[in-house]
Amino acid sequence: MGELEGRVAIVTGAGRGLGRAHALLLAAEGACVVVNDVDAAVDGSGSADGAPGGSGGGPRSAELVVEQIRAAGGEAIASTLDVADWSAGELLVAQAVETYGDLHVVVNNAGVLRDRALVNMSEEDFDTVVSVDLKGHVVPTRFAAAYWRAQAKSGRAVRASVVNTVSTSGLLGNPGQSHYGAAKAGVAAFTLICAQELAHYGVRVNAIAPAARTRMTDTSPGLAKLLAPPPDPAMFDRWDPANVSPLVVYLASTRCAVTGRVLSVQGGTIQLFEPWTLGGAVETAGRWSVEEIAAVLPGLAG
Ligand SMILES: NC(=O)c1ccc[n+]([C@@H]2O[C@H](COP(=O)([O-])OP(=O)(O)OC[C@H]3O[C@@H](n4cnc5c(N)ncnc54)[C@H](O)[C@@H]3O)[C@@H](O)[C@H]2O)c1
Repeated sequence: MGELEGRVAIVTGAGRGLGRAHALLLAAEGACVVVNDVDAAVDGSGSADGAPGGSGGGPRSAELVVEQIRAAGGEAIASTLDVADWSAGELLVAQAVETYGDLHVVVNNAGVLRDRALVNMSEEDFDTVVSVDLKGHVVPTRFAAAYWRAQAKSGRAVRASVVNTVSTSGLLGNPGQSHYGAAKAGVAAFTLICAQELAHYGVRVNAIAPAARTRMTDTSPGLAKLLAPPPDPAMFDRWDPANVSPLVVYLASTRCAVTGRVLSVQGGTIQLFEPWTLGGAVETAGRWSVEEIAAVLPGLAG
């Protein structure tokens, strides 16, 4: 028996990169998988190969992943809906439920990257990045949560899991990625709040901050060389996206009780991100004057 036997999962952005690795492992572990991808270019502009509508008339990436899952004896269907579109998100959840009769897992992974210094950022840069990287997490989760709430209210025991995808850029900062980082920090906050809000319906919500060699890292200056496979194929390939997927499977499984956590995962290392937390304080009786603040704040905040 696989870890996810009998579970139905949606993986967004699963035509390539990390999402593809997650979909393959979820299916290998017995889940029925909705493999979602719109075949966007890495920066979200147009399509992956520059052709209108996706893959230049050839099979779309989601269909290729589905073929691979089926060839290995697994179960999957392709979905080419845009996760940032409100009504498409509703259709995506309906597609899973209508095809497989239920939904247990949503892996929000679809993302785009468009490095821009703030002073060079256009409104379109900001809107594209925030639309996919933040709204693209909210939309599928919103409709999956409504489905799970209805299930819980009808008396069924729900054991559902949402796995979101953030980035160290949003948690530790990275110049040139203020829009991307803000969206990913938003996803981290969304994760904590959804975990609190959905717990009583039987839904756990966590996020991973992955690092792996994908099309996305190939476009970042200097990263392609840093994350290259080892010269000796017998050595551990630390940046293989498949290294990230076992954590996704565990978080998606019914034996996992973890919720409201953000976990960094790269190579063989899984590390817990501590959430924002209150630190040292200064206090006065009543309202501070600006002079008094000027006297104490450097000591508190550097
Ligand atoms: N690779 C890394 O080291 C790294 C680091 C931190 C965070 N991430 C995050 O991991 C996730 C996966 O990234 P990746 O590195 O595999 O990149 P990738 O470009 O290889 O894959 C992203 C996929 O998302 C799809 N996509 C984009 N917009 C979509 C939309 N609106 N609807 C549906 N699908 C859409 C793309 O077509 C693509 O197949 C992203 O959220 C990314 O921000 C990756």
